[in-house]
Amino acid sequence: QMQAAQQLVKVFVTRRIPQEGLKVLSQSGICHVQLWDSDEPVPQAELLKGVSGARGLLCLLSDKIDQEVLDAAGPDLKVISTLSVGFDHLAIEDIRNRGIRVGYTPDVLTDATAELTVALLLATARRIPEAVAEVKNGGWSTWKPLWMCGYGLSGSTVGVIGLGRIGLAIAKRLKPFGVKRLLYWGRTPKPEASEVEGEFVPLDALLGESDFVVVSCALTPETQQLCSKDFFGKMKKTAVFVNSSRGAVVNQEDLYEALSSGQIAAAGLDVTTPEPLPPDHPLLKLKNCVILPHIGSATYSTRGIMSVLAANNLLAGLMGGKMPSELVL
Ligand code: NDP
Ligand code: DGY
Repeated sequence: QMQAAQQLVKVFVTRRIPQEGLKVLSQSGICHVQLWDSDEPVPQAELLKGVSGARGLLCLLSDKIDQEVLDAAGPDLKVISTLSVGFDHLAIEDIRNRGIRVGYTPDVLTDATAELTVALLLATARRIPEAVAEVKNGGWSTWKPLWMCGYGLSGSTVGVIGLGRIGLAIAKRLKPFGVKRLLYWGRTPKPEASEVEGEFVPLDALLGESDFVVVSCALTPETQQLCSKDFFGKMKKTAVFVNSSRGAVVNQEDLYEALSSGQIAAAGLDVTTPEPLPPDHPLLKLKNCVILPHIGSATYSTRGIMSVLAANNLLAGLMGGKMPSELVL
């Protein structure tokens, strides 16, 4: 038995993930799993210890996989599988140079994330959290013609920044609300935009014409701080900004300024910097800012499916086979 255990390769899993995925790993018969069995992030020292000598690493978007971690892992590390579609937490260049394969979880979370983004957009535009608070705090005195008014989607122009898998799924869900024009911007025009009659326009045109600006692009060196003073300055004063991509796409000081000065109407964020956002952060004091704790993909079934996909990506990588979802670097 001792000998059999020695033939199994080591994999390190950085968090307690949905059990469906852990079961796939444990039943594979090819690896022994070392698990950081907690809901809380693995401390850096434990991460470094955990990856040491591992052939596979199953990580989360909150784990920064950089040179230090790769060095601690050593030359045995052959595959990294992240329980996310975003991969901005991975030092891709270094990983590629070491010949390590990467698995990720595209597609399976697209619907859940698009749905949450629409919910956030509606909650922000129609001031739902603020209205709920008024009911509870006695602010609801009577029905008032000018009270708690917001902005509707019917007849509006929506601008999507990054019409990728999630961006397109958001656009498809918004169109039936009566959206008149669907604009989008990114590096390249997308043939599939025709499904939502999307118009590929320059960024300035998108910002100047949109009533709703929705950010769903990847975080890269080019998109970091894309949404800053200049960006908000080009938006309509009545426009609503929504971000469900990554917090670092936004300059939060500039967003605070735009929201508090009336440069834009409101913002809904599912992602921030840092995460968690400290409870005393200035953005949380603003009534026209709705902030969620990065819950885009958080449905029970989606997280279960992500877990299984991440496990299968890892196993395929360990066996040198075709991964269900490999990030082609
Ligand atoms: P895709 O790769 O399908 O889409 C990414 C989009 O980003 C593409 O449309 C791409 O446009 C655009 N993009 C990339 N680089 C640039 C650039 N330099 N300038 C402008 N646009 C750019 O990914 P998904 O739709 O599956 O996911 C998108 C992101 O959503 C993830 O990277 C992740 O960060 C985030 N996410 C957040 C979740 C949450 O819980 N809030 C859940 C899931 C994902 P082009 O092809 O033209 O370059
Ligand atoms: C991702 O997958 O990148 C999300 O941020 C979490 O599901």
